[in-house]
Amino acid sequence: MSPLIDFDLVAPVYDRVMYIAEKCCLKEWRRKLISRVKGKRVLEVGIGTGANIPFYSSDVELYGLDSSRKMLSQMPDKYLQLLSGIIISSADEIPVKDDFFDTALSTFVFCNLEKPRDVAKEMVRVVRPGGQLLFLEHTSPCNPILKTSFKALEKITVPLMHEYFTRDVRQFLEGLPVRKVHEERSKSGILLLVEYEVVK
Ligand SMILES: C[S@@+](CC[C@H](N)C(=O)[O-])C[C@H]1O[C@@H](n2cnc3c(N)ncnc32)[C@H](O)[C@@H]1O
Repeated sequence: MSPLIDFDLVAPVYDRVMYIAEKCCLKEWRRKLISRVKGKRVLEVGIGTGANIPFYSSDVELYGLDSSRKMLSQMPDKYLQLLSGIIISSADEIPVKDDFFDTALSTFVFCNLEKPRDVAKEMVRVVRPGGQLLFLEHTSPCNPILKTSFKALEKITVPLMHEYFTRDVRQFLEGLPVRKVHEERSKSGILLLVEYEVVK
């Protein structure tokens, strides 16, 4: 299935569309996720306009990967200057040697990936043994009414724009050489923060 959601088209309005959600809660969860980064050399997959960048410590060597040049072009200059490298590529074939990073992470990327399992495998491949993977993604809510509504919404968003509201990133890590070390959900269950150690 080819995705109709084209981040090159969405890019000019992306930050404005996300503004209220960011202020209400996402910012707090981004801070929480990035505070768990232990590695020095870090890959952020689907870095987009750089919403997580303000939360990294200044001694992190941060590489941003994204397949959309337009999303990257919306990143403020002050964030761009903090990057050690930009990789314009699809995350299912990361053009980096094995074990190069200490940490790889993504936020709100798995919900519309075409090849989520391949991306998970690539993230494991490029992180050294003992390194970490971090994810902040939305998933199926705990409340049964909300859950049913999300499922109903997906009947439109999946065929139209390949957007899965209830995808669970953990399923794509199953069977890969990783060990879960931490997991947190928001009260509604919609937000899932999960950390793995790479044990290959
Ligand atoms: C919903 S946005 C999230 C952006 C950012 N991570 C955030 O938290 O605001 C998803 C991002 O993933 C990127 N993306 C989607 N598919 C990708 C792929 N296969 N490889 C690399 N980046 C991808 C998009 O271009 C977009 O920047």
